[in-house]
Amino acid sequence: MASENVLKENLHESASRLHALLAGRQPEVGIILGSGLGPLAERVEDAVVVPFASIPHMKRSTATSHKGQFVCGMLAGKCVLVMQGRLHGYEGYTPQEVAFPVWIMHELGVGTLITTNAAGAINESYSVGDFCIMSDHINFTGRNPVEGQDPDGIAFRFFSMKDAYDPALRALAHRVADENGISVQEGVYLGLLGPSFETPAEIRMFGAWGADTVAMSVVEEVIAARHVGMRVLGISLCSNMACGVKGASPSDEEVFEVAKRREPDFYRLVTEIVRGM
Ligand code: HPA
Repeated sequence: MASENVLKENLHESASRLHALLAGRQPEVGIILGSGLGPLAERVEDAVVVPFASIPHMKRSTATSHKGQFVCGMLAGKCVLVMQGRLHGYEGYTPQEVAFPVWIMHELGVGTLITTNAAGAINESYSVGDFCIMSDHINFTGRNPVEGQDPDGIAFRFFSMKDAYDPALRALAHRVADENGISVQEGVYLGLLGPSFETPAEIRMFGAWGADTVAMSVVEEVIAARHVGMRVLGISLCSNMACGVKGASPSDEEVFEVAKRREPDFYRLVTEIVRGM
């Protein structure tokens, strides 16, 4: 029982520190920027930057290109709290540690989360560079951020994951994409632990299960967000075809090269979605 209370106490302490450092800013939308997608944070106006290391109980980001900082300021007329880089299970963090910043956002009054990542495309009709709006997910990490908590620790233990990816936000994302001439897919995302990329046999299995994209993040965050009733939109950039799909063999370099190329459209898509909220 003691450990569950510690989680709740830690959360209050972390949220209070971040609140103080935001100097009166009241974020309403949280945005988590995945691999190669961090540059969007540099377009946030009137921004205050808070390294994860300044917040008690927050873990450090060790992933390539993940700066590991909060950036809070204005984007498309709304106050946003951006995570420029995220935490992953493959960095050795527990699912609670990975999800922790989402719960901090919620404590600060953030009601909507946009979580983004680079992903491998399993669906053969997708192309490298496509954006994919997540319609649903398969949590194949084998873990859950709510596991082991006091049932009353943060929120009720049992909660529905139906429409975890908010239908109205997905519709907004499609409308914005159409209006801006950005083509997007919509599909089921499968999240796993990593950090090795998958084998071709695993990818064939995931495809048979109904997964369209795959990567090593997002699911812990979305479960945590739904646990406390936040609305969620998930957007992947298909940075590569998944291992074995059309002969692909993913590499970290490819992920970053594609993210760099797609950054202008990514910025426009996310900004106009925030404007439309
Ligand atoms: N697999 C897992 N994670 C990823 C991939 C992939 O193909 N691409 C980007 N992140």
